Amino acid sequence: HLPQHLPVGLPKAELHLHIEGTLEPELAFALAARNGVTLPYADTTALREAYEFSDLQSFLDLYYGLMAVLRTAEDFTELADAYLEKAAAQGVRHAEIFFDPQAHTARGVPIGTVIEGLGAALDRSEERYGISTRLIMCFLRDESAESAMATLEAAKPYLHRITGVGLDSAEVGHPPAKFREVYEEAARLGLRRVAHAGEEGPAEYVREALDVLGVERIDHGLRCMEDPELVGRLARERVPLTLCPLSNVRLRVIDTLADHPLRAMLAAGLLVTVNSDDPAYFGGYAGDNFDAVEAALALEPEQLRALARNSFEASFLEDDEPRRAR
Ligand code: HPA
Ligand code: ZN
Repeated sequence: HLPQHLPVGLPKAELHLHIEGTLEPELAFALAARNGVTLPYADTTALREAYEFSDLQSFLDLYYGLMAVLRTAEDFTELADAYLEKAAAQGVRHAEIFFDPQAHTARGVPIGTVIEGLGAALDRSEERYGISTRLIMCFLRDESAESAMATLEAAKPYLHRITGVGLDSAEVGHPPAKFREVYEEAARLGLRRVAHAGEEGPAEYVREALDVLGVERIDHGLRCMEDPELVGRLARERVPLTLCPLSNVRLRVIDTLADHPLRAMLAAGLLVTVNSDDPAYFGGYAGDNFDAVEAALALEPEQLRALARNSFEASFLEDDEPRRAR
């Protein structure tokens, strides 16, 4: 048979994927019916039509609202299974999966329900889908540092399932340093550290995530390109950046994919990877993101292979000891 189209078939690791962002409209309505939740949309078509975002916040408002349908451990298992099946078909062999405990505990869903529900799908992922997995717990940066610390405390019975911590949600006005103590405690617990920075927020937040939080990887990091000194450091120190091209267009971080700095980032020697962020909302899974940048930026097969290689190098695979904090 014909080989699969390169961008989709290429074995890759996905390192920037919010499991709640894989909630497709069909599953959302099925879970709503099962759980007796009424959604403010007539049907899946009306819901999809609402996916017109003007910035990160306009997306987050809809995204957190739709999570109301996720109530039981089985809901989280189904959500993760649906993602893993799609990811496998797009060449994903390893996935480091974000989840947002506070978005669920705030609605009365216990953190254990979330973690054990996701864990049930992840436990059989290698066997069922050929995908190895890690779980990364994210703190909502627009909530308080105290709430993040309480979340880390509540996660302690489940740390055997958690590889690291991350930082997501509304970026501007919530600099990384707000979470210094939480990240210090995470490091003491042996957790890996990553953070979203430089998506809507300034390059300075990228530097702060490295210097104050000791992160090993930057999620997005796009706006580092405004700071040549920082670009040099990221390249020299081989700090991975988990880019999400389709997300950047949908959240209006850039105007069109042709404007994406991916080529310039590769040329600058940055360890960049391509990921889907919230694929149910942004128009594509990991392979679709590879496909889209190949077309928009006329990437060569060798560049696509480099991006796939980078994704494994940037992963926590076979390297599950935290690197020394910088
Ligand atoms: N940025 C910040 N928070 C998020 C994102 C994102 O792109 N996706 C889901 N939560
Ligand atoms: Zn993200």
